[in-house]
Amino acid sequence: MPTTRVALATCSVLPDLDPDDAPLLGALADRGVEAVAAVWDDPDVDWDSFDLVVIRSTWDYSQRRDEYIAWAKTVPRLANDADVLAWNIDKYYLKTLGEMGLPIVRTLWLDPDRHLTSQAIHTRLPAHGDYVIKPTVSAGARDTARYQENTAKARGEAILHARDLLRSGRHVMVQPYLNQIDVVGETGLIFFEGKFSHAVRKNAMLTRGHRPTQGLYQEEVMRSIEATEAELALGERALQAAHEILGESAASLLYARIDLVPGDDGDPILLELEFTEPTLFLNKAQGAPDRFADAIVARAQTK
Ligand SMILES: Nc1ncnc2c1ncn2[C@@H]1O[C@H](COP(=O)(O)OP(=O)(O)O)[C@@H](O)[C@H]1O
Ligand SMILES: [Mg+2]
Repeated sequence: MPTTRVALATCSVLPDLDPDDAPLLGALADRGVEAVAAVWDDPDVDWDSFDLVVIRSTWDYSQRRDEYIAWAKTVPRLANDADVLAWNIDKYYLKTLGEMGLPIVRTLWLDPDRHLTSQAIHTRLPAHGDYVIKPTVSAGARDTARYQENTAKARGEAILHARDLLRSGRHVMVQPYLNQIDVVGETGLIFFEGKFSHAVRKNAMLTRGHRPTQGLYQEEVMRSIEATEAELALGERALQAAHEILGESAASLLYARIDLVPGDDGDPILLELEFTEPTLFLNKAQGAPDRFADAIVARAQTK
C-alpha cells in the first residue's frame, strides 16, 4: 500500500504549525503516515495530492472569510469540510441553536446593512453590568473587548468599537459579560469523530479595561480538567443539534471543540462551537494525540 499522506493546514505566520499540534506529527509518524504542514493560501501546494487535509492553525482568515471558504471548496478531501466551515465560521449559528432551545449567551446582533448611527448603537448597549462586543466572524478573541456599563469613557469606546466593526462591513455581537468566567473559567470539550476525548479549562481572557486584540491570537492560560455531567450533556446536545442542521457533513466531524461558560445559576451556557480551526490542546491530555491520529488515519484511508 502506498504511504498515506496527510497535510495539516496552517497559516503563513505559523508555517511549522502551532506548538500544540507538535505531538500530532509524532503520533502520525508512529502510524506510518507522512504528515506535512501546508499554508492554506500558498498557491504552490497541490492539495489534491494528499489522502486527507486536516485544518489546524489557519488563524488569519477572519477578514478573508470568502477567500477561505472558496479555498476550502477546492480541497477535495478536507476535514472538517467546506460546508461545515461555512456554517461554523460565523457565530450567527448560535442564534439558530438558541431558537432550538439550547442555552446560549443572551446576544444582540447588529447588522452593518442597517447603517446604525452612534446614537442608535448607544441605545442598544446594555444599561447594566459589563458587556462584550465582538464580530460574528473572529477567532482567538480578535477584535473582542469588554466594557464597563457605568463610565462615559467606556461607553464612548464601546460605541466606536462597534461602529468601526460595522463600518468595515462586519456583523457585531453584544453580550452581557458572563461573570462566572472570572470565577470558574471557560470549559472546552474536545471530540474526535463525535467521541468525547478530553476537557480543558481556560482562564477568562477579557480583563476590565481590556481593549480589542490586534495580534493573530491572544495567549491563553489552559489546564486539563474533568468535565461535569452537565457540561458533557450540553456538549452532546450541541453536537446533536449541529447534526440536525448540517446533516451528513456534521455526521463526519473529524474534530470539534465546544466551549462553555457557567451562567449565574452555575448551569453551562454555549459560548462557541468550534468546528473550524480549534486549538485542541493535545498537550494537555494523556492519549489525546493518539486518539486524534487514529481518527485521522482511519479517515485518510477510507476517503
Ligand atoms: N459574553 C462573554 N462573557 C465573558 N467572556 C467572554 C464573552 N464573550 C467572549 N468572552 C471572552 O472572549 C474570548 C473570545 O470569545 P469567543 O466568543 O470565544 O470568540 P473567539 O474565540 O472565536 O474569538 C472567550 O474565550 C472569553 O474569554
Ligand atoms: Mg473562543
